[in-house]
Amino acid sequence: MASALPSWLMQRYAKFLEKFDGDWFDASDAAKILEDSDQNLTNVVLSELRKKGWLVTELNPEDNRKRLYRLKSPSAVIREMAASPREERPAVFEPLELNQIYCGDCLDLMKRIPSDSVHLAVTSPPYNVGIAYDNHKDTLSYDEYLDWLKEVWAETKRVLVSGGRFALNIAPTGINDFKPVHHDFASQLRDLGMIFRTEIIWYKQTMLKRTAWGSWKSPANPHIIPSWEYVLVFSKDKWRLDGDPKNADVTKEEFMKFSDGMWYIPPETQRNGHPAPFPEELIYRLIKFYTYRGNTVLDMFGGSGTVAAVATKTGRNFMHMDLSKEYCKTADRRVNEAKGALKQTKLLLATA
Ligand SMILES: C[S@@+](CC[C@H](N)C(=O)[O-])C[C@H]1O[C@@H](n2cnc3c(N)ncnc32)[C@H](O)[C@@H]1O
Repeated sequence: MASALPSWLMQRYAKFLEKFDGDWFDASDAAKILEDSDQNLTNVVLSELRKKGWLVTELNPEDNRKRLYRLKSPSAVIREMAASPREERPAVFEPLELNQIYCGDCLDLMKRIPSDSVHLAVTSPPYNVGIAYDNHKDTLSYDEYLDWLKEVWAETKRVLVSGGRFALNIAPTGINDFKPVHHDFASQLRDLGMIFRTEIIWYKQTMLKRTAWGSWKSPANPHIIPSWEYVLVFSKDKWRLDGDPKNADVTKEEFMKFSDGMWYIPPETQRNGHPAPFPEELIYRLIKFYTYRGNTVLDMFGGSGTVAAVATKTGRNFMHMDLSKEYCKTADRRVNEAKGALKQTKLLLATA
């Protein structure tokens, strides 16, 4: 029986339909349509379409180590969905548990987070600049990219408690194809009714590596190199976050330092097999400044698990999700290491 598709999968189904209609095709034909040279994304898309009942597959009679695929027509899947009795639909609303690593599409998974349950969402979405993630294709059209993320922001707002915060990290785009993506995200979130409370400049101290000057020493066409990233911070409904003052654990020195909105933090050097991990210091500051101990912190594009690991180390709950199994494995390892480090610290304190 067919079930509804998330938009990222529906977009790929539509591309296949345009090319293959009701014809059989193989994975390499599909990879060409998705311009996916290593077939990682294609394999995920084909497997998800099959699981959701939008695709049939059989062994290739000419080479039975390979498979052939055929799309079901839109009218066939709609008929199946309409005929499917309620109790046979997958139980997608089983709520997510705290402090677990979830591997899957964030829009599917976020639907399983109860409303008004997250105190801080902090994330860095795929930047859509062609980064080689494990199985996310980072080259949507700009409009597709914005439409997709607006759905994610709407879910983010739903799951935040009143007064909950959303810290959204985004880098300025490249010089050649500059898009004001931080402005567009801010407009989307304000359209959704979020309060835009501040922006933090994360100065990455990377100017030493600089090469692209544009017109060197000439006003003809000099380039400004983005040596910073933004952290745009929003609140849901109101500015204040309620909590027990006993659980506010930011120190006086930290508070004074973090409330200056220019944060000098070098990029992460320990990449943990991920192309774009957060530095732990950035997340530590956001968590300590914006949440109470015991609060829940969500990263819906969790990657190598920096948010989950730092939340664990600082006594917060986390919700982590990522499309890539590889990154989820890394996140799991980092959380376990963080738990070990926490136990050791407590032990040291107890014996001191
Ligand atoms: C900029 S990276 C985040 C890195 C993370 N902040 C860290 O510290 O490792 C964006 C992540 O989004 C993931 N991703 C892409 N599409 C996704 C989707 N639909 N659902 C969940 N995760 C997705 C990618 O696999 C990638 O790890």
